[in-house]
Amino acid sequence: MKSKHPIGILDSGIGGLSVLNEIRKTLPNEPIVYFGDSAWCPYGARDAEDIQRRVYAITDFLLSKNCKLIVIACNSATIAAVEALRSTYPVPFVGMEPGIKPAAAHTQTGTVGILATEASLAGEKFHRLVNDHGEGVTIITRPCPNFVKLVEDGDLNSPTARTIVEEEVLPLIEAGADVLVLGCSHYPFLKPLIQDIAGPQVTVMDTGQAVAQRVNHFIAGELEVSQPKCDVYTSGELSHLEKHFPLLCPHIKASLHHADI
Ligand code: DGL
Repeated sequence: MKSKHPIGILDSGIGGLSVLNEIRKTLPNEPIVYFGDSAWCPYGARDAEDIQRRVYAITDFLLSKNCKLIVIACNSATIAAVEALRSTYPVPFVGMEPGIKPAAAHTQTGTVGILATEASLAGEKFHRLVNDHGEGVTIITRPCPNFVKLVEDGDLNSPTARTIVEEEVLPLIEAGADVLVLGCSHYPFLKPLIQDIAGPQVTVMDTGQAVAQRVNHFIAGELEVSQPKCDVYTSGELSHLEKHFPLLCPHIKASLHHADI
């Protein structure tokens, strides 16, 4: 892999910026190109073929920017497309999927709540994950399309946001879940609110840090660039990205762009 070539990151929108934050913390000197597909967000309501078409187009875009590795910072896109992408393109892909294995290892009550998109929960890969790692554990799934909308709207803590999050989280706690898995890259931006509603006895897990570690493992030992660029593209309105990026990534200096693909 070429050290000056950037890491590519993609998501359906600005949710994957939660993963960008983790990757930047772990790899402060790597150039990065991020693509948020806000014009096509949410992916959670789309079928797998639709998601695959978009992810192929974005991969072509990231490869045109010379990305050496692509992070699919989106559970829905990973579940729908990662296997097809790996068999099509020569670059490595780091995917992201709901952390059922660590959750099953951590639960004391034996009940785990999985918050994810409808597309992720319907995916065959998700069912394989449950079969492989969920034995002996009660897994309750809950699609939360409204969480994606809250994050895309930058509404992380209003009274409306609290009501919406309570509606999804409280039934899981009442059912005995002591671990909640954030199975969508948008949800970590709501983690403080989710944790507050769930209470201190509940562990709220997300996989952004594990994804960053995996990326680090792939590129370990490479020469790093001293003044790394971070270019962030959106297929949606540039003004939307300009408004939300500084709030979601306050420690990252980036150039923001619109791209029609
Ligand atoms: N951020 C995405 C995920 O991790 C998808 C959200 C959406 O577009 O519905 O699943």
